[in-house]
Amino acid sequence: MWRRIERVGSGAIGRGGWAGRLGKKGGGSLVEELRIGVLGFGTVGTGTVRLLLTNGELLAQRTGVRFRLVRIATLDPQGDRGLDLAGIEVTDDAWKVVDGDDIDVVVEVMGGLEPAGSLVLRALRNGKPVVTANKALLAQRGEGLIAEALRSGVELGFEAAVAGAVPVIKALKESLAANRIQQVYGILNGTCNYILTEMREKGLPFATILGEAQRLGFAEADPSFDVDGIDAAHKLTILASLAFGTPLDFERVTVEGIRHISDVDIAWATEMGYRIKLLAVARRSGDEIELGVRPVLVADASMVATVEGVFNAVFIEGDFSGTTMYYGRGAGERPTASAVVADLVEIGRNRRSGARGRVPTLSILPQHLVPLPVRDSREQSGEYYIRLEVRDRPGVLAQLTEVLARFGISIDAIHQKGRSQESAVPLVMVTHETTERQVRDALVQIAALDPVSEPPRLIRIESGLA
Ligand code: HSE
Repeated sequence: MWRRIERVGSGAIGRGGWAGRLGKKGGGSLVEELRIGVLGFGTVGTGTVRLLLTNGELLAQRTGVRFRLVRIATLDPQGDRGLDLAGIEVTDDAWKVVDGDDIDVVVEVMGGLEPAGSLVLRALRNGKPVVTANKALLAQRGEGLIAEALRSGVELGFEAAVAGAVPVIKALKESLAANRIQQVYGILNGTCNYILTEMREKGLPFATILGEAQRLGFAEADPSFDVDGIDAAHKLTILASLAFGTPLDFERVTVEGIRHISDVDIAWATEMGYRIKLLAVARRSGDEIELGVRPVLVADASMVATVEGVFNAVFIEGDFSGTTMYYGRGAGERPTASAVVADLVEIGRNRRSGARGRVPTLSILPQHLVPLPVRDSREQSGEYYIRLEVRDRPGVLAQLTEVLARFGISIDAIHQKGRSQESAVPLVMVTHETTERQVRDALVQIAALDPVSEPPRLIRIESGLA
């Protein structure tokens, strides 16, 4: 039976302590105003402001809300960003944003743990919803912020914190909410993916490509957050919480970056039908979960392997949905702004409808969050790629396989190139299923053998991916 409903917007004004000014705009439709304060005016801040100024009319038509930029806090208020900022206050006092009575919603795009953490906390305490792109803050201090948002009854949005424009947070919280999630994995760092792609295509070493990426502005002057896997681990922390209903806990993620990946290994991987990717994986494994970011070999024929350059991709496997894939730009002014403003849209729509706490911040009601045991990454089983540099003498293989046999490791394939009794030649082995602990223990003994001239290289082969 059809019910008569009131016109949207006529009943929700003024709820939740927000300004709720109502006006007739845009062809007579009812429009409310949401006053925005922005913390940070770098790349993402500039994109967010540009988007709100460019698409304001469209956003009003889609939400019934006019997003009015009131104040932007930055350490460089005089900087020229090529924007018309008439009517917008640009200040170096960030507290004026979070404490201002004339601000309804705070957007935090300054990054870092402090002062961002204190500012976000204060904004939430002041009853202001917050939208943030700050993955480090969420992964390391998210629990406290979420508790504060809950106490204040306001939203904490973070679509922009994981994979930029790729709508993976909303996918987990809403579109896939009916599923028990088995695994979430993907390429969450564009800088690393760009470097690995370029190393493969140009056959050049890590340091050369990193230098090039820095010159082109694809990599930060201090690239450690990216190339050491920390940025991807922050993002994985957030995805794992949403997927498995477990509290945010960055410390439990095993992290390995790409600095040690050599162009020699990339060439070998290519020859054997693989690509090397920095893969973030959160996976149910019995009663435990696996949580890791590390370089792995993925089959050329997999969809993961086709994600190249600066692009990100996330794969989510649910018990009813099967695997779905989300692909796009994970960084940059416009893609990240798209995600920031998506959260503003949600907040605006919530205000219009009078909704409060409609979607739990971590997708599950807080009382149902359960800390799940994390499996030690060394106990995870899989196949492994091993590269040794050995002097090519009779009996070398026998020595190596004897050690491997002692550790219960079975070999699937061995490749060797070149011949030289004086200088070393590469010897590449692929193991059958074994644990990382077994391989690492065996490699300690292999590294000590006389014909082995360099520390062995070990990379996991991640099979069974989409
Ligand atoms: N620096 C990140 C990347 C984007 O390269 O993907 C922001 O997290």
